Amino acid sequence: MKFETLSIHAGKTIDSSYGEVMTPIYLTSTFAFKGVNRPGPFDYTRSGNPTRKALEDCLAALEGGTRGFAFASGMAAESAVLDLLGPGDHIIVHDDLYGGTYRILTRIKKAQGVDVEFVNLRDIDALRRAIKKSTKAVWTETPTNPLMNILDLRAIAETARNSGITTVCDNTFLSPYFQRPLDLGIDIVVHSTTKYINGHSDVVGGAAVVRDKSLGEKIGFIQNAAGTGQAPFDCYLVLRGLKTLGLRMEGHNRNALQVARWLEGRPDVSAVLHPGLESHPQRDLALSQMTGFGGTFSFRVHAERDALRLLEGVRIFTLAESLGGVESLIEHPWSMTHASMPEDVRTAAGITPNLIRISVGLEHVDDLVEDLRQAFGRM
Ligand SMILES: Cc1ncc(COP(=O)(O)O)c(C=O)c1O
Repeated sequence: MKFETLSIHAGKTIDSSYGEVMTPIYLTSTFAFKGVNRPGPFDYTRSGNPTRKALEDCLAALEGGTRGFAFASGMAAESAVLDLLGPGDHIIVHDDLYGGTYRILTRIKKAQGVDVEFVNLRDIDALRRAIKKSTKAVWTETPTNPLMNILDLRAIAETARNSGITTVCDNTFLSPYFQRPLDLGIDIVVHSTTKYINGHSDVVGGAAVVRDKSLGEKIGFIQNAAGTGQAPFDCYLVLRGLKTLGLRMEGHNRNALQVARWLEGRPDVSAVLHPGLESHPQRDLALSQMTGFGGTFSFRVHAERDALRLLEGVRIFTLAESLGGVESLIEHPWSMTHASMPEDVRTAAGITPNLIRISVGLEHVDDLVEDLRQAFGRM
């Protein structure tokens, strides 16, 4: 079945005499056994719940995996995947990525004895050089948040696979509608479903999807043992959001490209970082593994002072962290989403005080352009 059909129907089970058309919210912490040692399909909601299973099966279908897991947040999903590693294991991580991922790796995983190494994975030779005997995982995010760099997932997956290394891709920015990392050879996809997958900025959630059965067993064990699965009510909301993912992604993509083109023509903008623009140095690579660009991108103004004025001058865009909702957001990575990275690391990566990230929503694009125009006018 095609993506739009799967997003509406995959994972749905009809299990009642009422013939419900939509998956109900099973607000129950526990389930009756049929007798001693005879549990039903579910026994306790931390271990599994029908609403969560419907979402997990739908996510697995959309990413082309065999198992999906829904978590209480994107970071809970990342944490579960990182729990596959133990002391002495080496993980190679792309050196420009979401600040929260950087934080869990440097502040928690390192303290637990995991050997964390940041490498520029746009350079496949650098990846080859970084691999050692203890390397167990390679962590990617593409496009990267907030710099919109693209990683060659096929090349990374192949290089890692040759050394028996597990690869992970954070697919939050594109969703499976525009990019399916498992098809490109990646082993584990993670998401902050808080973003496009839910799409309405009313839930915090995360997901992991795998194709390999034994990896699925391990992540399922960790999800249950750590108790980080998503609550049924929130799973219901994410499932509801998923049904329109394809339509929403098309709208985000169209609006964002139009705003990006408009920004490129402005004298007060020094650079627009959007992989769909002809000016993006990795546009061909992007087109070889993505079918669209999503709704989030960044741009640079000439100075920090201009960035702060613009952020305060908008009326329709809301100054807030996060992305991927129907409403447009604007933020300052330097002082907001990426403040958990040390200043020198941010600067070296290119996350400078004159950088602005926007999540272009589904409002009419003319209103969004007009909002930015009036905010530039106040600078
Ligand atoms: C790319 C990316 N990955 C992971 C996360 C973490 O997700 P959550 O905030 O749902 O824990 C975020 C949040 O902004 C993100 O942008």
